[in-house]
Amino acid sequence: MLVLRDLVKVYPGPVTALQGVSLDVPEGMFGLLGPNGAGKSTLMRILAGLLEPTAGSVALDGEDVLADPAALRARLGYLPQDFGFYPHLTGAAMLAHLLALKGVVGRSGTKALVAELLDRVNLTYAADRRVKTYSGGMRQRLGIAQAIAGDPRLVVVDEPTAGLDPEERLRFYHLLAELAEGRIVLLSTHIVEDVAVLCPRFAMIQQGRLVAQTTPAEARASIEGTMYEGLLSKGELASVRLGHRVTQSMLFEGRHRVRIHARGVAAPAGFVPVRATLEDAYFVLGGAGGRPAEARIERAAAVGATAAPATSAPATSDGSPR
Ligand SMILES: Nc1ncnc2c1ncn2[C@@H]1O[C@H](COP(=O)(O)OP(=O)(O)OP(=O)(O)O)[C@@H](O)[C@H]1O
Ligand SMILES: [Mg+2]
Repeated sequence: MLVLRDLVKVYPGPVTALQGVSLDVPEGMFGLLGPNGAGKSTLMRILAGLLEPTAGSVALDGEDVLADPAALRARLGYLPQDFGFYPHLTGAAMLAHLLALKGVVGRSGTKALVAELLDRVNLTYAADRRVKTYSGGMRQRLGIAQAIAGDPRLVVVDEPTAGLDPEERLRFYHLLAELAEGRIVLLSTHIVEDVAVLCPRFAMIQQGRLVAQTTPAEARASIEGTMYEGLLSKGELASVRLGHRVTQSMLFEGRHRVRIHARGVAAPAGFVPVRATLEDAYFVLGGAGGRPAEARIERAAAVGATAAPATSAPATSDGSPR
């Protein structure tokens, strides 16, 4: 079990990136879901021992991690959000280099360990290709190979699925699911689908605060019976937004197919009740910090369309500009 208590991080500025986060992360896959700037990478860098928190504690299986970061590093695998590779090296050479940096030596030597790790992440066929020829998914799998070297107890992966096409994402899901057997894997993401597919438990973080720590089923159940769907014109959509939280809006035959949350208020005429999805729960539980517009793009990418570049423009929970 990984236990975080009252983690605070204030960057110079000052920017308070974490405002007292407490989290219990059991063995298996655990999702940390939040929009851009929520504090996910800050939290993960603290766990990786790369950043000192301003306050708070971290314990891994009962051991105080912050007191002895070097001891933790031996039990930790970390895939940063922006993982740098040397593009001219082959995958095998790059991995050997990363293992040397990490100080991991296989029982039968580095070469054997490289081969074993490449096999684990299904990259044996590309071992001798230069990293610059790798697809995004292949790079992420190479990043996972270095993260799991030395069989760490805790693996921290920071937004590993962003920018992957649907096929690569699916492959990557299978790899992550395998990884989570017998260890703690903490996965940060702003893609609800990642959590729905992979995580029996997850936490939602916004503006440095935890807003939920739950399971996908519980999150959906908490808003069951409050979701409705209907078709609206553009003008109608604007007025419905004034009275309801819109969790999804898609163009459909020239009109807007809209999902809304209506608790304690009547749904607009013509709207029908629908089952709650995890994405609905994300935007309802997340309140003003959720951003359905961007999530729609990512979701579309996950279900078959081409991935759109992530936007960093802030938006309100119903997707309109702030
Ligand atoms: N080195 C830094 N100095 C000052 N502020 C920082 C620094 N790093 C991050 N921040 C700020 O801290 C907040 C949290 O950033 P962080 O990178 O942890 O968020 P995130 O959830 O990982 O976002 P993203 O999804 O965009 O990766 C943001 O407001 C960010 O601008
Ligand atoms: Mg980040």
